[in-house]
Amino acid sequence: MKPIKLQSLENIIHKNDKYSKASSSLFEYNLHAKHDLQGWRNLLIDKASRFANKTTTLDLGCGHGDKTYRMLMKSDIAIKKSYLIDFSEVATKVFKGKYIEENAVIYNDDALLALENIKNKEIDIVLLFGFIHEVEERGKLINMLKDRMSENCLVLFSDNLLYFTAEEIFSDLNRLCLPATTFKKVFKFGMFHIYKSKSNINGKSKYVFFRHIGRMDEVFGIFGKKHREFFKFNIQREIKQ
Ligand SMILES: C[S@@+](CC[C@H](N)C(=O)[O-])C[C@H]1O[C@@H](n2cnc3c(N)ncnc32)[C@H](O)[C@@H]1O
Repeated sequence: MKPIKLQSLENIIHKNDKYSKASSSLFEYNLHAKHDLQGWRNLLIDKASRFANKTTTLDLGCGHGDKTYRMLMKSDIAIKKSYLIDFSEVATKVFKGKYIEENAVIYNDDALLALENIKNKEIDIVLLFGFIHEVEERGKLINMLKDRMSENCLVLFSDNLLYFTAEEIFSDLNRLCLPATTFKKVFKFGMFHIYKSKSNINGKSKYVFFRHIGRMDEVFGIFGKKHREFFKFNIQREIKQ
């Protein structure tokens, strides 16, 4: 049975409570994780960092903000600006204490309100990690996001299927009208995670596997003109059918 999805206000209270345990040590753990969900998302961040030099990034539902922090700390790139959005103030407390440069802007507000502060076509990289499944008005969010994305914007999405099916989530994300490769988990065997992958350009599906210790998200996808380039950096293997 699917868990019951919390309404916005309840969700903010729940998240503030969850993050009240937010500590420097948890932030550091997430920041450096190689395994499990956090390690998986860090792997995506490291791939995305290759596209991040002199760009503006947006981390929606950033939680602790450790993923953006990881990108900002890469010595070989200089990020122009990073926006972090999370309605839980408690969540971003550690980040605020740790990162004092002016190129990081945090909005502790509902995503729809916070996005009003960002200019059209300003964003080059969007992180949607564990966030989309939380949003009530996904259609509205995606429309706002679409306006704020630059022409070559890259969108990294990785999430669970707690409340929605993969088909529901991908049909929402397809409203970004970007070429994409999407992945849905079909099977896990030890360290091997097998996904069905689909490109929305040729519509063909194939099976791919990833070797990763611990959990990976149930669904993920890379959206944007550079989505194929992203996979040149060899994070998955194809299974010949
Ligand atoms: C599951 S956490 C994911 C955190 C982080 N992205 C990660 O990968 O670890 C989802 C986050 O989205 C935030 N969130 C949920 N709905 C939101 C909304 N409507 N506006 C802003 N933040 C929201 C929550 O406070 C929470 O920190």
